[in-house]
Amino acid sequence: MNKSCTTNLPYTMRAIVIHEPGGPEKLIEETLPVPELRSGWSLVHIMARGLNHSEVFTRQGLSPSVQFPRVLGIECVGKIALSTDEKRLPTGQHVVSLMGEMGRAFDGSYAEYVLIPNEQIYPVTSMLPWVTLAALPETYYTAFGSFKNLRLEDGQSVLVRGATSGVGVAFAQLVRAAFPHVHLLGSTRSAKRTVSLLQAGFDEVVLDVDGHVQLGGRQLDRVLELIGPATLKDSCRVVREYGIVCSTGQLGGAWYMDGFDPIVDLPPNGYITSFYSDNVDQLHLDELFSFVEREHVDVVPVRVFSLSHMADAHAFLEDSDGFGKVVVVNDEEDSRR
Ligand SMILES: NC(=O)c1ccc[n+]([C@@H]2O[C@H](COP(=O)([O-])OP(=O)(O)OC[C@H]3O[C@@H](n4cnc5c(N)ncnc54)[C@H](OP(=O)(O)O)[C@@H]3O)[C@@H](O)[C@H]2O)c1
Repeated sequence: MNKSCTTNLPYTMRAIVIHEPGGPEKLIEETLPVPELRSGWSLVHIMARGLNHSEVFTRQGLSPSVQFPRVLGIECVGKIALSTDEKRLPTGQHVVSLMGEMGRAFDGSYAEYVLIPNEQIYPVTSMLPWVTLAALPETYYTAFGSFKNLRLEDGQSVLVRGATSGVGVAFAQLVRAAFPHVHLLGSTRSAKRTVSLLQAGFDEVVLDVDGHVQLGGRQLDRVLELIGPATLKDSCRVVREYGIVCSTGQLGGAWYMDGFDPIVDLPPNGYITSFYSDNVDQLHLDELFSFVEREHVDVVPVRVFSLSHMADAHAFLEDSDGFGKVVVVNDEEDSRR
């Protein structure tokens, strides 16, 4: 398709390309052709994208299925620039997209435009600013899914294992906004992160020592397990009767469990659930956006970078001890919409 015949789209765009694995300096700004439209895919003009630790791993060459050169970026928010589904995704429609091999099997969101399969593009009606919207997919989507699956009620106690993670802190924001009387505990391996966790909304910080959470024999109503199979059995131990554990993360580096006897190891009359962000659906996203607006959830990115400073954004994400989502806009002034 000759873009200039039908639209005001440029022929080229700025993109951050990686040709070989390595440090942040391997993320190089280049001029690429704006992708050509193809059947069943639509072109999104990206306004902002949130960064994820998985992109750091991919940059380091730890995602064997990702072939270089590649434009990374597994999520974005923006507007439809060219559509193959004018009914559901009309030109100009505000949209979000996440996961589904964007930035892995095909070029992703570290660019001004991205071509995405239609089924992976979700219209949004939210009036939240672009930088706030960009902080929501993936991290908040995962936290929200876990939050719902835990069926939390006000007044209950809930422990987040791996509380200093992005998902852990997002979960804390959701709980704080909706349930003022929930007792929210967060675990960390490092006592020096206590103050930051309290500032992030946790009521109490407990230590995780060699896979055992230090609760002094107390029993809780709910656990969000982000360390995963490495500590799931220990989490079941601290949940009281009829309690729920939601196993969402694998920070402990174990993906599977040996030696777990559900009859003995589950909390008495209790439940285990999980959440997987690859199961994206429009209803769930709409619910998240309205929840954030309605409950005034405090979603402020910890840092906003411009596209030209993607390498700095990666370096910050890798080195930072801080919490929260890093968002990258195309240009500095974009962060004000
Ligand atoms: N189910 C899904 O669909 C889904 C979606 C998104 C993310 N996730 C998973 O959710 C988890 C959180 O993701 P994230 O991106 O928010 O994480 P993140 O921000 O990278 O988490 C960093 C934190 O992990 C903790 N940590 C690191 N290594 C650990 C270990 N060996 N044992 C215990 N804690 C360790 C550290 O806490 P301390 O130093 O304070 O202990 C650190 O502050 C990850 O496992 C991720 O894969 C799952």
